[in-house]
Amino acid sequence: MSGVALEPSRFGEDRLAQPSDLTPQALRGLSDFFEPLLPHFARETLRSGGEVRVRPGGDGSVRALYLFHPVEREASVFTRDPAIAEEYRQHRPGVALYSDFRLVGDGFALRVYSGHMEEIDPGHRFSHPVRLAAPSEAGEIAALLRNVDGPVDERWIATATPGVEDCLAVEGPGELAGLGWVTRVEAHGRLHSLAVRPRYRRAGIGTDLFFARIEWLRRSGASSVVTEIADENVGSRAIAEAGGLRAIGRIYRTTPTPPARG
Ligand SMILES: CC(C)(COP(=O)(O)OP(=O)(O)OC[C@H]1O[C@@H](n2cnc3c(N)ncnc32)[C@H](O)[C@@H]1OP(=O)(O)O)[C@@H](O)C(=O)NCCC(=O)NCCS
Repeated sequence: MSGVALEPSRFGEDRLAQPSDLTPQALRGLSDFFEPLLPHFARETLRSGGEVRVRPGGDGSVRALYLFHPVEREASVFTRDPAIAEEYRQHRPGVALYSDFRLVGDGFALRVYSGHMEEIDPGHRFSHPVRLAAPSEAGEIAALLRNVDGPVDERWIATATPGVEDCLAVEGPGELAGLGWVTRVEAHGRLHSLAVRPRYRRAGIGTDLFFARIEWLRRSGASSVVTEIADENVGSRAIAEAGGLRAIGRIYRTTPTPPARG
């Protein structure tokens, strides 16, 4: 058997989330950056076959929200308590874990960027036509993301709710050249999963996809936007900063421990 088994007493309070755990009230105070989006993250995880666990607090509150995506082998934990985050890391050491804490030395940091719509210049001149991708293109979208990013669960793409979670894309000859996802929950927006195939890079597609998603958010009534970008991702950070977003903090991703042999 591989991995570190948690003692039942340390992990015993943890349980699968119930609908009453996933309300904005129950999830209040768990994240400086993503709080308004947490119920959406949890629903999306469940919809695409993932696992949502909570560590209950008192009075119906939640001390930690844990989201696990089995195909990507990635999880996120939203909690103020680094000891709880560490327990979740140990629970699945072969899974990359995003949290507010640097839990292990060999992980990496991501900057969280934020901006208000009125601070972002609406006058961007587009170099490429950007269009909305249809749910029927899930296969092609997943193929591009896999090409750039590694394993992707097609279920979250195929079941995304249009108007809440949309994909904008730039066409190349006979294939998608690049795409980026945008989420809106009430007035709160998030940009994620930006990817341009290597042969189309440095031609302004990433920048066009940034501004197209901002415009999508503006038209849908969002007033703010958040996105997280690895410290080392100079290109993506350059696009966000040129677009008017500013770094407001950091989150961390652990490097998974490969399974032990024998
Ligand atoms: C990051 C990424 C989306 C950029 O796409 P792109 O279409 O090449 O971006 P753009 O052409 O619009 O670049 C705009 C500017 O960003 C900066 N930039 C982009 N890539 C860069 C790189 N690799 N190194 C340094 N600066 C870079 C440059 O200032 C560039 O302007 P320039 O080409 O005139 O010098 C693309 O490299 C990619 O898909 N990377 C892998 C996936 C990824 O990192 N996604 C983002 C996750 S947050």
